[in-house]
Amino acid sequence: VPAVRDRLRIAIQKSGRLGEPARALLASCGLAWRESRDRLFCYGETLPIDLLLVRDDDIPGLIADGTCDLGIVGRNVLLEQAGERARTGAAATYREWRALGFGGCRLAIAVPDEWRWDAAGDLAGKRIATSYPALLSQWLAAQGIDAEVVTLSGSVEIAPRLGKADAICDLVSSGATLAANHLKATETLLQSEAVLAGPIAPFGDVRAELAALLLRRLDAVLGLKD
Ligand code: PRP
Ligand code: ZN
Ligand code: MG
Repeated sequence: VPAVRDRLRIAIQKSGRLGEPARALLASCGLAWRESRDRLFCYGETLPIDLLLVRDDDIPGLIADGTCDLGIVGRNVLLEQAGERARTGAAATYREWRALGFGGCRLAIAVPDEWRWDAAGDLAGKRIATSYPALLSQWLAAQGIDAEVVTLSGSVEIAPRLGKADAICDLVSSGATLAANHLKATETLLQSEAVLAGPIAPFGDVRAELAALLLRRLDAVLGLKD
């Protein structure tokens, strides 16, 4: 990756809940693209701002290593990976630039329906399945609760029924997934939504002007929404 670039590259989710609204938001900022055959890269035609279509979990890393300049990703993913970097002593390289007002959800503790929940302290000594081990560990430490974090990359909601965990910590949007798995949400760890993520350090080339232009347009569009 060259240090100096004359185009801005934004990573967005290829499929899933945030991909289409992210593209629509950028289009409403006046961006338009020509798509590559494999639909993984979109070349900016109205401005030198390109899109890379990737898995959401890859977005923070792509910004950290400079492969992409900006990204649109859930705050939950951004903070989880920032937390993991902090835990391993890696320097912080990216941060949230703007909250984008779509993809709202919360990261919550959920327990089996029949659990007579009293307070967060009920989790002491329990096993909690999650795809967000850094955020869950931080929250448990802040609450002074000693519990076992069981990391799973997906299908976290079935862990209690499989006997792999007593409770879970996962995203809740409509609540349908919890209901289908006979779980109920208790504590909220984080309110999340789609965010524009970017580097902490300023760009040292024309990307600085491109990013500033994009932010001005984005703020105008977001301002019209509320
Ligand atoms: C998310 C999350 C929950 C579900 C919650 O998963 O992990 O499973 O959505 O949404 P709900 O409250 O509206 O049911 P998603 O389907 O986005 O896929 P993933 O877990 O594979 O990332
Ligand atoms: Zn995902
Ligand atoms: Mg899920």
